[in-house]
Amino acid sequence: MIETRDLWFSYGDREVLKGVNFKANRGKVTILLGRNGAGKTTLLMHLNGLLKPARGEVWIDGIKVKYDRKSLLEIRKKVGFVFQNPDDQIIAPTVWQDVVFGPKNAEMSDKFAKKAIKYLELEGYENRLCNSLSGGEKRRVVIAGILAMNPDYIIMDEPTAGLDGFGLRSVVEIIEELKEGGKTFVISTHDLDFAKAVGERFVYMDCGKIVHESDRIDLTIANRYGLRMGNVRGRLVVVPHNVEIPEIDTDFIAAMGIKAKERAFKEGLDVDIVDAVLERSILRAVEGHTVLLICSAEMMSVVEREAKKFPIFFEVLDKVSCGVSSNKIGRDDKGVEAIKHGASGACIH
Ligand SMILES: Nc1ncnc2c1ncn2[C@@H]1O[C@H](COP(=O)(O)OP(=O)(O)O)[C@@H](O)[C@H]1O
Ligand SMILES: [Mg+2]
Repeated sequence: MIETRDLWFSYGDREVLKGVNFKANRGKVTILLGRNGAGKTTLLMHLNGLLKPARGEVWIDGIKVKYDRKSLLEIRKKVGFVFQNPDDQIIAPTVWQDVVFGPKNAEMSDKFAKKAIKYLELEGYENRLCNSLSGGEKRRVVIAGILAMNPDYIIMDEPTAGLDGFGLRSVVEIIEELKEGGKTFVISTHDLDFAKAVGERFVYMDCGKIVHESDRIDLTIANRYGLRMGNVRGRLVVVPHNVEIPEIDTDFIAAMGIKAKERAFKEGLDVDIVDAVLERSILRAVEGHTVLLICSAEMMSVVEREAKKFPIFFEVLDKVSCGVSSNKIGRDDKGVEAIKHGASGACIH
């Protein structure tokens, strides 16, 4: 277990951590959530001795962290840290030199470096210059460099920042596999979808303090602490299963309830969201996407009640077929009209 006890830290006279008692259990993926400036990076940097507390203590596996050179070297073997920006972490010219930098420095063999290169599919890249790699490849090099030390704990600071969908999936897979292999993760993020995909314990930080902890993401709490809202307001467009399904420009289609699933199937629609449908649909809308949710008619009130709690555009399209023609609505003026007419639950906070 990694633990902080009444941890305080300031940059100059700016107090950034204010009595943080944080715990990350072995074998688990603990997610640190919070808006920009909450203090996540600063807290993480205490977990492997990159920063020294002004007050309070850090404990790793029941041993209090000390800050002499030898103790720090031991900690770095046990706790690896993946920086938010790989450019801040890559120090050697070539991939191989960078991956073995840690073990060499610690006078360890390169056994785990070789394994890590293979595991991260970097074979053939060994002599490539790091500065010629893409962002995703650099991130793999950094992770390989961490695995080369065979640490028990892996800290990741915003590992999905700047990744596209493909990169995101591979990060999720890496975390899941390494967790199966017994590694413990502490990961900071403000990406709720990613947090949900890998997290087992969620710790919310705000203004230098831990403000909430739970075993699942509570969207109301996440919302309260400003997670991934930005200025982008997504849309949740809900259609009961028994009316015409409009052809609107959506990022995701979801179906909630058996009747809605049957309807989607009949229409040949590619349903992207299949489990925890309502939660995930709202989550995606909160993140700025447009989601079309086909919903068994009797569940409409539940959807409406939940959706109204979030800062999203919420529309119910239940009068579509009388608003326009019996054909599907295209993305034209008529379609927009139909959306307006049907918007019985429009909710703009
Ligand atoms: N090196 C630094 N010097 C001065 N202030 C800093 C430094 N790093 C971070 N801060 C400030 O500390 C606060 C917490 O930052 P950080 O730990 O990076 O938060 P988060 O990772 O949650 O965005 C912010 O107000 C930030 O501006
Ligand atoms: Mg940060």
